[in-house]
Amino acid sequence: MERFAQEIAQHLSVVLGRPCTPSDLDLPPDPTMGDFAFPCFRLSKERRKAPPAIAKEIAVELTNLPAGIEVESAGPYVNFRIAGDRLAQELLKDLLDPERAYAKLPADSRSTWIIEASSPNVAKHLQIYHLRSTAHGAALHRIAKYRGFRAILINHLGDWGTQYGKLAVAFDMFGSELAGRRPTVSDLVDFYVRFHQEEEKNPALADQAREAFRKLEAGDPEIRKLWEEFRETSIREFQKSYEKLDVHFDEIRGESAYIPDVPPLMEDLRKKGLLVLSEGAWVVPVADLAGKDIPPCILQKQDGATLYATRDYAAAIYRFHRYAFHRMSYIVGAEQKLHFEQLFLVLKKAGHDWVDRCEHIPLGLYRFRGAKMSTRKGNFTTLEAVLAEAKERAHEVIQKREHSIPPEELDAIAEAVSLGAVLFHDLSTDPSKDVEFDLDRVVDFDGETGPYLQYAHTRCLSILRKAQDSGILKELQVPFHSESAKLLQAPQELALLKTLGHFSLHLERTLQYSKASHLSSYLIDVVRAFNIFYRECRVLSDSEDLSRARLGCVQATRTILKTGLSLLGIPTPNRM
Ligand code: ARG
Repeated sequence: MERFAQEIAQHLSVVLGRPCTPSDLDLPPDPTMGDFAFPCFRLSKERRKAPPAIAKEIAVELTNLPAGIEVESAGPYVNFRIAGDRLAQELLKDLLDPERAYAKLPADSRSTWIIEASSPNVAKHLQIYHLRSTAHGAALHRIAKYRGFRAILINHLGDWGTQYGKLAVAFDMFGSELAGRRPTVSDLVDFYVRFHQEEEKNPALADQAREAFRKLEAGDPEIRKLWEEFRETSIREFQKSYEKLDVHFDEIRGESAYIPDVPPLMEDLRKKGLLVLSEGAWVVPVADLAGKDIPPCILQKQDGATLYATRDYAAAIYRFHRYAFHRMSYIVGAEQKLHFEQLFLVLKKAGHDWVDRCEHIPLGLYRFRGAKMSTRKGNFTTLEAVLAEAKERAHEVIQKREHSIPPEELDAIAEAVSLGAVLFHDLSTDPSKDVEFDLDRVVDFDGETGPYLQYAHTRCLSILRKAQDSGILKELQVPFHSESAKLLQAPQELALLKTLGHFSLHLERTLQYSKASHLSSYLIDVVRAFNIFYRECRVLSDSEDLSRARLGCVQATRTILKTGLSLLGIPTPNRM
C-alpha cells in the first residue's frame, strides 16, 4: 500500500505545488469510503476557502492519476481508492516476494535514533515493571531498524550512588557467609536489606557507608574491586533475562562511566552563570515552558558528589557527541517525569539546542489483578518469577487443548507461548497506562492476547501444510501467479489484502508515536480480517487457480503475523 500512497502523494505534490509525502495521508475511518484520505483543513488559510470546497477543487485538479487509482471528494477530504485488480496484483506480488522482506527499508537509510531502555539498578533483581521499558524499547528499536533507521539501543545501568557505599559496608559485615563463593544478586539484595536492619540499631553505619562511597568515588582500589564484582554479577544475571527476551543492546554503559566528564561540564555551567548554591548543593534553577518555576535541578553536592541528574546530563551530552542523534527517546517510568523535565531544561539553558530532539516516553505501572500468582517463590514480582509462573500456566492450557504434542516439544512451546502472552499483554497496553496483570487473562487463547495471535499464525501454517500434503503446493512457499491473483475480487479477500498492505503505515505510526501498542492492535486487526476471509472464502476450492490465489493470502497473512510478532520480540512456534 505504501507504493500507492507514494504515487498519490506525488500527484498531490504537483497539484499543491509543494512536497507531499505518504504521511500526509490518513486512513478513512470507514474503509468503504476509500483506502486513503487527504484532509484539507490545513489548506483553508492559504486557499481562503472552506475545506469541503478545497477538497472538491483538488479532486478535479487531479486529472492524470495513474490507472487504478480513483479519486472522489467527501466533505473536507479527498478520498482515494485503489482498484481491486491493481491491488490484488501488486500487493500480493510484494507480499509473496521471497527475496525481499515486506515493508523493510534498507539498513541505515534514515536518521539516527537513540532509544534508551531497561536501565535497571545493579545489585537488584529485574522486576516485572522493568519489562515495560525493556520490551517497549527493544520493540521500537527492532521496528526502527526494520524501517531503515540507524537505531541504537542503550542500557543506562544504575551503577552509582550512595547505596553502593552501603553495600560495601554490608559486604564487609556479611560477606564471610559466602565462604568464598561468588555472590549472587539474591545475596546482594539480602545483604542490603540486613544492612538497613543493622543501621537502625547502629546509626554509625550510615557514616561508614558514606565514607565507603567517598572512597569509591576517589577510586580506592579495594572498594572499587568490590563494586566491580557487584556490577558484573548483576550484569551477568540481567543478561540471562535479556537473552530470554531476545533483547540486544548496542551499548550498556553505567552511570559510573560519566563521572570523569562531570568536572568540565560543571565548570562550563559555572562559566555560563547557571549554577546557584542552594541548601548545600549546586543547582540550576529552572522554569517550565509557561515560565513557572519548578524545583531546581540539583547537580552537585558541596562535597563534590554527583547526583542522578548530573550523570544523566553528562550522558546526554556524551551521546550527542558520539552519535549525533536526530532523536532520542528515554523509555522510563512516568514517576520520573519531573526529572526529565528538569534535565531537558538544564540542557536547553546550557545552550544544547539539540535537546529538542529528546523525549521522555513515560510508562505506567504494573498492577496485579486476580492475585493468583503463587507466593511460594517469595519475591513474586521479579521478572523471572512472573515468567516462570506464566510458563507453568501455559503448560496447563496447552495440555488441556492439544493432546498430540510430544512431551519433548511441549516445554519449548510453553516457553514461547508464555513469553508471547506476557510480552503481548504489556506491549498492547498504551505505554502511558498501567498494565493490569491477570495471569488467567494474559494466557487466554481466546482473548486479544499473544497466544491468540501466535495461534492464528500456526493456523495459517497448517493450512499451507495441508495444501502441500494434497499436492497443490510443491513447497511451503506460495509462488506469485499474476493470472490467479486477478481472481481475488471478493470483498473479504480485498479487505484482507489491504489490511496486510497497511503494515508499513502502521509501523511508521508506531514509530511516530513511540507506541508499540499501535503495532499490537494492528496485528489484532490482521487476525480479524483473516478470520472473516477464512470463514467466507474456501481456501482449498474446486478451482486450482483460485486455491493458489487464496493460499497466497494465507501465506501473506502468515508473513505479516510472523514479522509483526517478531518485531515485538514475540516468538512464533510452528504448532501449539
Ligand atoms: N536506573 C533508573 C531506575 O531504576 C532508571 C534510569 C532511567 N534512565 C535515565 N536515563 N535516567 O530508576
